[in-house]
Amino acid sequence: MTLLKKLLTPMRINDLELRNRVVMTAMHLNLTPEGKVNDRILAFYEERARGGTGLIIVGGCIVDDLAGAHWMLDLRDDSCIEGHARLAQAIKRHGAAAGCQLYHAGRYAHSASMGGRQSIAPSPVPSRFTGEEPREMTPEEIELTVRSYAEAAARAKRAGYDLVEVLAGTGYLISQFFSPVTNLRTDQYGGSPENRMRFGLEVAEAVREAVGPGFPVCFRIAGNDFMEGGNTNREWAEFAVELERRGVDLISVTGGWHETRVPQLPMSVPRGGLAYLAARIKERLRVPVIASNRINDVFVADEILRMEMADLVAMARALIADPYLVQKASEERYDEITHCIGCNQGCFDRIFYLQPVTCMLNPRAGRELEYRPERAAEPKRVAVIGGGPAGMKAALTAAERGHQVTLFEKREVLGGQLNLAAVPPGREEFWTAVEDLEAQLDHAGVEVCLETEVTPETILEGGFDAVVVATGARQAVPPIPGMELPQVAMAWDILEGKRDPQGKYVVVIGGGAVGSETAMYIASIGTISGDALLYLFTNRGEDVETLRELCSRGIKRVTVVEMLDKACRDVGLSTRWTILQDMRNLGIEIRTGAVARRIEEGRVVVEVDGREESIPADTVIIAVGSCSENSLYEQLKDSGLEVHLVGDAREPRKALEAIQEGYEAGLRV
Ligand SMILES: Cc1cc2nc3c(=O)[nH]c(=O)nc-3n(C[C@H](O)[C@H](O)[C@H](O)COP(=O)(O)O)c2cc1C
Repeated sequence: MTLLKKLLTPMRINDLELRNRVVMTAMHLNLTPEGKVNDRILAFYEERARGGTGLIIVGGCIVDDLAGAHWMLDLRDDSCIEGHARLAQAIKRHGAAAGCQLYHAGRYAHSASMGGRQSIAPSPVPSRFTGEEPREMTPEEIELTVRSYAEAAARAKRAGYDLVEVLAGTGYLISQFFSPVTNLRTDQYGGSPENRMRFGLEVAEAVREAVGPGFPVCFRIAGNDFMEGGNTNREWAEFAVELERRGVDLISVTGGWHETRVPQLPMSVPRGGLAYLAARIKERLRVPVIASNRINDVFVADEILRMEMADLVAMARALIADPYLVQKASEERYDEITHCIGCNQGCFDRIFYLQPVTCMLNPRAGRELEYRPERAAEPKRVAVIGGGPAGMKAALTAAERGHQVTLFEKREVLGGQLNLAAVPPGREEFWTAVEDLEAQLDHAGVEVCLETEVTPETILEGGFDAVVVATGARQAVPPIPGMELPQVAMAWDILEGKRDPQGKYVVVIGGGAVGSETAMYIASIGTISGDALLYLFTNRGEDVETLRELCSRGIKRVTVVEMLDKACRDVGLSTRWTILQDMRNLGIEIRTGAVARRIEEGRVVVEVDGREESIPADTVIIAVGSCSENSLYEQLKDSGLEVHLVGDAREPRKALEAIQEGYEAGLRV
């Protein structure tokens, strides 16, 4: 009997039968440079359908010229229907249901992405998301836009989709009408909640009319805008009740707006941590509800359903990371699942820079046509040196192709720098990545030799045909006078627990990802845990302000010294602001444009704008980057063996690149 009680059970939505409760919610993937369905996006979705997903919703699809970027999936006119028909068919061929999301960004649309045209919105309230001011919609434009949604819905139905979804949350057009923050109108579309709902409800009615009574219509709403003065869960529940009255069959509840300061996507969001938003809305409805955000694990998903917090679960990035997640779960191959860890390196961070989607843990995502793993014609004996992310992925990929693989790691554990990245608060999911890879290596039959220092002779005399060198990097040691003093420690040694920060005042030299995360780790020492917070809060042990302080003020005073004008430059856009916000919350002082000149007893002397300043320091931590560790490669490259150099050993970069290179080496051997 399966351990999952509810996740894999079928359900009905209006005329549609779903094979299970897993919904891949809409994601703009940037795989369609012209906005037209192409083979690349077909292959991406077909794989997720083949992998057992219940309902796949594609999009967002722009409904008219001012709806959003013209390279998003296009549903603006009938010429788009043929491409969408191919996409719907590709999904349905494998037993998944296909949905199509209708998208209008309103003031979240950037003029540069719409041929220079100014965006439209209920009122001309500038958008922090785009840095632009929209134009107020005229009553005629409101009517036309309602019609655009309806016409796009009809096209989606003609294309063969099983369901249409209207995106009404996340700060997009319908939520802009609903919010008193962005709707300052004085006509029948502004003012009272009823008036602010009017536009969204007109869209619901028009879409229903366009698709007819049996066809499933979903609305994707915010569970809470998480915006000062915006709609909370209570108002959105009212809106959902009205949508249900207008014949909407399904409500998908996501988090807040793009402009909110409450993070909803990075790994610091607890797994299933926003499901309560869906649960509170479900209480008010008869139609089914989808819970969303950071549901990356089938057991978390199943529990949400079993506890009746929702009827379906959204697993968006989880299915980028592992298209076969549902199939593996249904075959009880739980330890073979690759969990999305919410790093956003391959998805959000690339989409922001208009690059196609991929995944740090699944380099094949978005490149299904490019990477086609095949069984090796002749199995080889492959040595992989280095058990960090690049080495683990290389070993796994080679073994899955039928090679006999030995993975050598000089430390006592696998995972390399992922283990360090996991130490700061809210970054623990990096350990999930290590655990998944370990389980998969085991399953693929890779021989893992820990605490094994490899020499060229080990390889040359070991009878290997090919070697992948993934020896990683070592920390850079800057030429700062005073580096030899006993209070100086390297960041990795602190994160690994080899050295403890001494005294109250800690200065971290280097404000990149490693320096910032080390600073967060140290600044959180002495703060209370989530459990302690709950205990103190529910028992009214401390007042709310004291609790906030206990969560965010530890016992160390931490300063980060960064010579560039910004900290965390090497962190992706989607996560950078959350780390900077966490650092501020933890009281970490960030000194940018500051060059460390020397370290002395009890202080670091920095130069800022040509003047020297002294920062108190009982411990000084060095985090100024790393250099490739590739001496073994140099010794092996002319040995006559097939040798591949991957990851930081080639050039220090992010895990995204390291894992991709490991994967490619695993495909090449
Ligand atoms: C690259 C990317 C693009 C997205 N684009 C959309 C979109 O167009 N419409 C939408 O409703 N949600 C969009 N989302 C949000 C997802 O549907 C989902 O709500 C979010 O990723 C949180 O769920 P998860 O933790 O399961 O990934 C996008 C997410 C990603 C990663």
